Amino acid sequence: MVVPDVSVIPTDALAARAAEKIAQTLRKVTEVEGRACLALAGGTTPRRVHEALAARSDVPWPLVHVYFGDERCVAPDHPDSNYRMAKESLFDRVALSPSQIHRPVAELADREAAARAYEALLPARLDLIILGIGEDGHTASLFPGSPALNERARRYIPVVGPKPPPERLTLTPPALETAGALLMLAVGRGKAEAVARALEGPWDPQATPSQLARRGSWFIDPDAARLLTGARRK
Ligand code: 6PG
Repeated sequence: MVVPDVSVIPTDALAARAAEKIAQTLRKVTEVEGRACLALAGGTTPRRVHEALAARSDVPWPLVHVYFGDERCVAPDHPDSNYRMAKESLFDRVALSPSQIHRPVAELADREAAARAYEALLPARLDLIILGIGEDGHTASLFPGSPALNERARRYIPVVGPKPPPERLTLTPPALETAGALLMLAVGRGKAEAVARALEGPWDPQATPSQLARRGSWFIDPDAARLLTGARRK
């Protein structure tokens, strides 16, 4: 039985605390491995975490390679692009060379080819995957009831989801399962029901894909933690 590592953190302190956790993990991994492979989450929650991370002086950026947990099938300068959000909030602010930033070419018409090309450049194991949670319980672009939840061979695949834009590429359950560490971020009342189901509901990742992050560290604000019964408030 996995006991989730849950930290309930005041909303205005969460970005800094998450950045501290990410920096600490990247330092620990680079000290042992000589490099660290980090996968970023999409959506809006990570933006402030990226900005807090960029403001720190203790991240071994020259040894870090950055990947994307999922990406929308839009151009990299599209407002919905996770790459664009990461570029604005992180890449443009830290010493990462282009060779350290691995962007899925998700705008390709042939999404299968795009997913396979990206899978080919993924490391055997991602050291840290940052994740977000949707109000429906999705994470990355693994949505409730999706066939992607049954994928056991591939680590990056194209999906069509209910959250616009619908066409995306995403890490699969095996990629999440083999990651060194998972950090789930959840902020706001809208996430409370999904967070409670993900952390304390009966095991059913088909219905609540965020349960695949149950073994990870969860940084959630009081509003998102509202329906939890056993969260350890750190
Ligand atoms: C995406 C994300 C997705 C996101 C959640 C939460 O590309 O849409 O990877 O999984 O993390 O939907 O999104 P918000 O942070 O915007 O609430």
